[in-house]
Amino acid sequence: MRKKVKVALMGFGTVGTGTYKILTENRELIANQVGADVEVVKILVRDMNRKRLIEAPEHLFTSNADDILENPDVDIVVELMGGLEPAFSYIMKALDRGKHVVTANKEIMAKKGREILSKADENGLSLCFEASVCGGIPIIRALKNSLATDRIKKIMGIVNGTTNYILTKMSQDGSKYEDALREAQDLGYAEADPTADVEGFDAAYKMAILSSIGFHTKVDIDKVKREGISQISRLDIEYGNELGWTIKLLGIAQDVDGKLEISVSPVMLPKAHPLAGVMGVNNAVFIYSEAAGELMFYGPGAGQTATGNSVAADIMAIASQIVMNNNMRPNCSCFTDRDYVDEMKTGYYTRMNVINKPGVLAKIATVFGNFGVSIESVLQKKTEGDKAEIVWITARVGENSFKKAIEVIESLDVVNGISSIIRVEDNGYC
Ligand code: NAP
Ligand code: HSE
Repeated sequence: MRKKVKVALMGFGTVGTGTYKILTENRELIANQVGADVEVVKILVRDMNRKRLIEAPEHLFTSNADDILENPDVDIVVELMGGLEPAFSYIMKALDRGKHVVTANKEIMAKKGREILSKADENGLSLCFEASVCGGIPIIRALKNSLATDRIKKIMGIVNGTTNYILTKMSQDGSKYEDALREAQDLGYAEADPTADVEGFDAAYKMAILSSIGFHTKVDIDKVKREGISQISRLDIEYGNELGWTIKLLGIAQDVDGKLEISVSPVMLPKAHPLAGVMGVNNAVFIYSEAAGELMFYGPGAGQTATGNSVAADIMAIASQIVMNNNMRPNCSCFTDRDYVDEMKTGYYTRMNVINKPGVLAKIATVFGNFGVSIESVLQKKTEGDKAEIVWITARVGENSFKKAIEVIESLDVVNGISSIIRVEDNGYC
């Protein structure tokens, strides 16, 4: 008789059902590689009567977490509920009870990662979280294993499927923001509260996780500068397109002379950049490292089976260790403390509405010049009566100097208002 590794799923929504599907449909494939049957023995849900995306035997379901956490038969607890609580308490209890843990929960990993990884290490248990970043892309394992001997210099990522889906729909089909968001929700990509996606929180969690692993330091989530896409207008997409750029919600984490700079924001990216061609729910992570050079990891960033496969792969890795009686490598590789850059340097796209009369451009250009902001190009886009729309593209400049210039420009009597400011990233790694 083959040995059994017993798994309990906490959550049976998009990712829970995807994981169950992979584990059951590919049971033999997995068993042949692990040398044991990997069997789902319990499933926790909130509502026992809800119709599920995939059916599972009724006797597996429970709404009592202790049927899993206090069950000595369960080897691996798989948290797929989302949110901080009760998920965090359940993970801590599972580790206290000697169970290995798999989670897809980026919020927990970004906010409480240190605590749960330390507890797993103290108790000699595994804690895997591949699906917490970029759904179906095996990026965590690549950073933790394949690139573990290398030094990472910069990580650029489209790490949120919902926002990339919305931006793609807006730019390719001319869809309205609200319609594209609703579609992403219907397809199961969005978080329970889609504000987490569109305001960049979800991407910030993922960049904190990637940076913690890539730069071997615990990145606190408040160190990640964050801005979402809810203010992006079709006009900016259109103007960006004319300038040869695509707007993406981009995470950028880099080592600048030994200090870290981590941000998530909409970025104007040249269409020739490999990340500019990443469309729909797909994600991609572009890595610059000292030894390997430039690498790009691409694939579905959300969705039932893509994400379920990442979870199932974590379960399989732990099951193999259990079967081989392997001792674990430490879960946490955050062994350094790092400082953060004081002032980010980047280029900016700025759209503003001004009074259409002679001398206005010169007046604004003088303010930019006074604060050391160098202009790369300026375009007068639309003119209606005595109003004109102007787009300024700046060279790379310190964030504080740029903000001070904008404050003064906003107060000029010839300026009706600043409509949008978007970061420009046109020179790759520098
Ligand atoms: P979901 O579809 O909303 O499913 C959540 C599941 O958890 C549901 O089955 C729900 O039960 C159960 N649940 C929630 N709170 C519970 C509680 N207090 N007690 C018992 N059960 C509870 O969520 P999801 O999209 O699968 O996401 C799950 C996790 O994966 C999240 O951390 C998410 O960020 C992450 N993730 C999702 C994706 C994706 O593509 N969706 C990709 C990568 C990572 P009921 O059904 O009975 O309400
Ligand atoms: N809501 C997330 C996204 C799910 O859209 O990327 C995958 O983490």
